[in-house]
Amino acid sequence: MKVAVVGAAGGIGQALALLLKTSLPAGSELSLYDIAPVTPGVAVDLSHIPTDVKIEGFAGTDARPAIEGADVVLISAGVARKPGMDRSDLFNINAGIIANLTKQVAEAAPKALIGIITNPVNTTVPIAKKVLQEAGVYDKNRLFGVTTLDVIRSETFVAEAKGLNVADVNVDVIGGHSGVTILPLLSQIDGVEFSDEEIAALTTRIQNAGTEVVEAKAGGGSATLSMGQAAARFGLSLVAALNGEENVIECTYVEVEEDKFFAQPVRLGKNGVEEILSYGEISAFEQKALDDMADTLSGDIVKGLEFSA
Ligand code: NAD
Ligand code: LMR
Repeated sequence: MKVAVVGAAGGIGQALALLLKTSLPAGSELSLYDIAPVTPGVAVDLSHIPTDVKIEGFAGTDARPAIEGADVVLISAGVARKPGMDRSDLFNINAGIIANLTKQVAEAAPKALIGIITNPVNTTVPIAKKVLQEAGVYDKNRLFGVTTLDVIRSETFVAEAKGLNVADVNVDVIGGHSGVTILPLLSQIDGVEFSDEEIAALTTRIQNAGTEVVEAKAGGGSATLSMGQAAARFGLSLVAALNGEENVIECTYVEVEEDKFFAQPVRLGKNGVEEILSYGEISAFEQKALDDMADTLSGDIVKGLEFSA
């Protein structure tokens, strides 16, 4: 199994690479790529960790030697938010970066499962679809927006609020990955009751959790370590599914209908998305939130589909 991390010298990329070096199945290959010249050094550093995961680092403008033959490509290359910015403010820079890198994935690893972390995810994933389509290699079952951070945040905050063991808490988060498009399905958590006020407050906190980190870092970037953990969970689930493990389920932002992207639970398999699962019954509060996000989400998607590099 070969996993490539693109943006590997960055805050997320280094945390993710560390977690993959220590958690990928024995015999795997980990390939790091970033435009930053330090990247081969990051790989040398990680290579001293005693695990049976072969690691190599590549820098420069050509990502293809790093991506060549990868089974999974996780992309976190691009710029991050500073206080006062929305994720959509990253579009002008990150749209071109994602278009360029996805084109290289299409050439070097056309069958890879691609997980896009770079923001704004609601828009960068449709950009990747267009680029892969133009290259003649698009498969809707192989392209994912990584929204796992919303899931792990929800699980953490719910466990804290209710005094539960977080290992026992599972929360599905549907929609997209920004502001009102992030919708945790708190009504579905087994054995947990919330008041209406608690639901409203927790939902808002989960939707604003990225901004909470951006403000706390005060200009030094956005979530990197928790995102590294989230991306490792998602990437390892892709690898487990490729290795034939059954019943691997993650919430992720995928194309659910032609040109309609949405995050919801997905069963993963040897070809990527095996089945898009129903997100089940939702409360009146959640239904209203779903209705209210529709225009924002479809606007974000159209912006990506209409982008031309
Ligand atoms: P960072 O600045 O620490 O790292 C980004 C890396 O990308 C840098 O090392 C940079 O050299 C590299 N890079 C830039 N352009 C490149 C290119 N053309 N080719 C290769 N590498 C390139 O940023 P970060 O904190 O790691 O965040 C990265 C992205 O992830 C941001 O867009 C951020 O908003 C996003 N993010 C997404 C989520 C999510 O839940 N999906 C969570 C946190 C952050
Ligand atoms: C997050 O949710 O932490 C990321 O999307 C980064 C950000 O800009 O908030």
